[in-house]
Amino acid sequence: MSTMNTTDAMPNGSAAAACTPFAAARTYLSVLDLTPDALETCLALAARLKRERRLGAAAPTRQALAGHSLALLFDKPSLRTRTGFEIAMQELGGIVTCPPSADALGTREALADVARTLERWISVAAIRTFEQSRLRQIAQATTRLRVVNALTNEEHPCQALADCLTLRERCGAVRGVTLAYVGDGNNVATSLTHAAAMLGVHLRLASPAGYALPEATLAAARRMARHGARIVECEDPVDAVRGADAVYTDVWTSMGQETEATRRREAFGEYRVTGALMAQAGRDAFFMHCLPAHPGEEVDADVLDGPRSAVFDQAENRLHTQKALLLLMLGAAP
Ligand code: CP
Ligand code: NVA
Repeated sequence: MSTMNTTDAMPNGSAAAACTPFAAARTYLSVLDLTPDALETCLALAARLKRERRLGAAAPTRQALAGHSLALLFDKPSLRTRTGFEIAMQELGGIVTCPPSADALGTREALADVARTLERWISVAAIRTFEQSRLRQIAQATTRLRVVNALTNEEHPCQALADCLTLRERCGAVRGVTLAYVGDGNNVATSLTHAAAMLGVHLRLASPAGYALPEATLAAARRMARHGARIVECEDPVDAVRGADAVYTDVWTSMGQETEATRRREAFGEYRVTGALMAQAGRDAFFMHCLPAHPGEEVDADVLDGPRSAVFDQAENRLHTQKALLLLMLGAAP
């Protein structure tokens, strides 16, 4: 019988990483699973990995996850999150497996049994599914598997990492930056709000009645707020955007809400990011969107494709931040 302690198996013997603030982060179901320091550590590492990517095979992290494997379990479509994780593992020397979601997340067996099977082979599972409670069931059933939220109905914490790296790159530092969010108080908005509060970003949110951020998100963000971060809800998108450093929006109808699309189109008509709305923001303000976008709905095409758009920087940064997250969760950060 093996004497290896599989709970803490670190193929690279990187036990020193136990000193990082990430040591306790066995799950990343929510930005709130991290301390503000851990979040800052992750962003700083992502910036370093982005710089070092040009070294290719000579990058110091090229084999950092050798011996580790990542399972991608996706109940909903994905380009950026899925491919970002695949490339991340390849570039870090680990391997990826993609069990069909109908087999792993369907009705074939209990989620707890899926977790207790995967933990015997796999270091990390990145899971995109519907209710956040499904992720919690998986995480609670295992003591070994690292579990990452690759998007649920409620939260999208991997997206928030890339968004914050993009803000950092464009603004020099995120503390004191003013970000406006116009649109649905959804999964992307929730994780953005958590991260903004923890990093000292002032966030102004404008959503139509009935589509605001959940009270619990606001309460958690205010509890976690650092460096004087102000999280404010506005009725009028112009009030949210006025003088802001960046303007963020997301789709009106998220995956799984397709039957509400008509009702939502009516409710969100005034919550579109247009050139006129961007003109109310700061002189150098830029536009953010997690993608995929629906031009003509939540954003006009000339804003999405215009010179102030940062959306492909955000998309690129999904890779660098997901690499950082994996390295830190597996105790293999350089
Ligand atoms: N932003 C984002 O999560 O994109 P995908 O749905 O393509 O993964
Ligand atoms: N709010 C969107 C984000 C997609 C990346 C959705 O959940 O569909």
